[in-house]
Amino acid sequence: MNILDIITKKKNGSSLSYDELKFAFMGYLNGEIPDYQISALLMAITIMGMNISETLSLTDIFIRSGKAYDLAGAMKYTVDKHSTGGVGDSTTLIIGPMCASLGLHLAKMSGRGLGLTGGTIDKVESIPGFDVDLSEEDFYTQVEELGFALSSQTSELVPLDKMVYALRDVTGTTESIPLIASSIMSKKIASGADNILIDIKVGSGALIKNMEDAKILSEWLIKIGDAYKKNVRTLISDMDTPLSYAIGNSLEVCEAINVLHGKKCPLYNACIEIVANLLSMAKGIDLGEAEVRAEQVLKNGEALKKFYEFVARQGGKLKEVKVAPHVIPVKTKFEGTITRIDALGAAKLAAKLGASKMSLDDKIDYTVGILLNYKIGDKVKKDDTLLNIYTNKYVKFTERDFDFIEVE
Ligand code: URA
Repeated sequence: MNILDIITKKKNGSSLSYDELKFAFMGYLNGEIPDYQISALLMAITIMGMNISETLSLTDIFIRSGKAYDLAGAMKYTVDKHSTGGVGDSTTLIIGPMCASLGLHLAKMSGRGLGLTGGTIDKVESIPGFDVDLSEEDFYTQVEELGFALSSQTSELVPLDKMVYALRDVTGTTESIPLIASSIMSKKIASGADNILIDIKVGSGALIKNMEDAKILSEWLIKIGDAYKKNVRTLISDMDTPLSYAIGNSLEVCEAINVLHGKKCPLYNACIEIVANLLSMAKGIDLGEAEVRAEQVLKNGEALKKFYEFVARQGGKLKEVKVAPHVIPVKTKFEGTITRIDALGAAKLAAKLGASKMSLDDKIDYTVGILLNYKIGDKVKKDDTLLNIYTNKYVKFTERDFDFIEVE
């Protein structure tokens, strides 16, 4: 077998066998196949596609590249959730404590953001003292005792995905549906929960830009789950507009706490939908009843209490969370209705302030970001504050920085 033949075969539109995929990808992991050849293969896959059998093979090769955990063998009601990434998506910080309050077990391994979409690990790192590198033993003990723990992805969990994902990010091969499906499902299957919910984000601020691709991805994620006897459901949700009023790490932590206090907003509704699905999958109850129970733990303060326990157990000092001291209000020029808040544009403005990394060497300023005051459909008067900018540095703004929000 040789890598050139494998690249050529895929370039010509033929399907690859398990052994050919294993030769190429494990060869890359072991340092025998260089970046440029695996990049060429990834590009051929992105353009020519892969069928379900190839996608299942690749998922299996990814899983076997590291350690697979058996969470469901050790605990009852094990759940896991993955979002394909978005703007203002701090759901994990809210749904984790909600799940734990409902007797579910969520061992959440999360990633950092790259580019404009935020990562959960960056958000919790805005809490001074919060430990994102729990030992395996502490991580699983906490899940057993508290119901929820959050850690950054260990180097043992699907190491091949870590390498391939970093390469896809810089070779224009992120949008391939078979590659996305095997990347997501290998991590979820290796993490070991029985019930898995994938939140597929669609829109300007997301990896998946249209509904058709989201539906195909959904079908494939479920098929891969079936092959591993996992209970998989998907949600397809909008990411044309930021999910939260807050964009920026410590601002999003504060907003998550507001939702846990019962603040009604799109993020509140999204969290109820996610938790209700996980609860109904894990305990086999009707979705309507699960929604009522999910909202109950927000209303009665149980999820908020769990959140405080979870943060304290991982060493976080919430009282020391800081937001940038310089606040610049952005006012409306005339009366009207908010007709558009574009997720990508909002993320770009937050990035300009330093809220996310544009390259691997950048440093994130956890305290900066933007806080929107309105959602689409809200009425505003002239000189109302549309949003506040939290910054630590002088930033030269242009009109274009704010054209992501439209009043008509
Ligand atoms: N999330 C992942 O983990 N992998 C992808 O390829 C896309 C989104």
